[in-house]
Amino acid sequence: MARSTIISPSILSADFARLGDEVKAIDAAGADWIHIDVMDGHFVPNLTIGPAVVKALRSWSDQPFDVHLMISPVDAYIADFAEAGADMITAHPEAGPHFHRTVQSIKSHGVKAGAALNPGSSLDMIDYVLDELDLVLIMSVNPGFGGQSFLTSQLRKIESLRKTIERRGLDTLIEVDGGVNPQTAQHCINAGADALVAGSAVFKGGPDAYAGNISALRGV
Ligand code: DX5
Ligand code: ZN
Repeated sequence: MARSTIISPSILSADFARLGDEVKAIDAAGADWIHIDVMDGHFVPNLTIGPAVVKALRSWSDQPFDVHLMISPVDAYIADFAEAGADMITAHPEAGPHFHRTVQSIKSHGVKAGAALNPGSSLDMIDYVLDELDLVLIMSVNPGFGGQSFLTSQLRKIESLRKTIERRGLDTLIEVDGGVNPQTAQHCINAGADALVAGSAVFKGGPDAYAGNISALRGV
């Protein structure tokens, strides 16, 4: 039987004045993971949150914290995010020259390691580190902002990665991030995605809508 798709709501679209309550609400509404977007105003043109906020949110949910670091340099901050309560840390190979070292550093903190690829980046960039990764995050928008449109060009990348993972006998998860809504979610699932990040599509309509919004992404 096919495993149910993992849904990881991005709190970038939450009400930042009530972040704890928002994390609690998406947990109660069926979120499998909590996706936390960290931006530095340098690698991406936006600023969001740091490890202190991750730490403050930790007690609001027992679900895994899926921390997406869009920062450069990244290595100096890995320990802080691991100690703050991240369960998975995903970094961009485009953000620095020594991505293999970054992956080793993430794993040395007992945290699952992910690689996030910008829409313009090729899978070749992670070929020699794929065996070490727990997760590959395919960006289906250019990182920096919520609410952008899904880039269908990335479906071919998801399909190709799924084939590679199967050919190599790996259990690396494929996560997709950006412009995911009930329609594009189905395309991602058909292409081989295991996990979907969604900000606007989960948080639209306020807390009473979260459970329905999450179910709609799973196609149920
Ligand atoms: C974009 C972030 C995404 C974003 C998704 O840089 O990595 O996680 O918040 O937002 P939506 O689902 O609104 O495209
Ligand atoms: Zn993200």
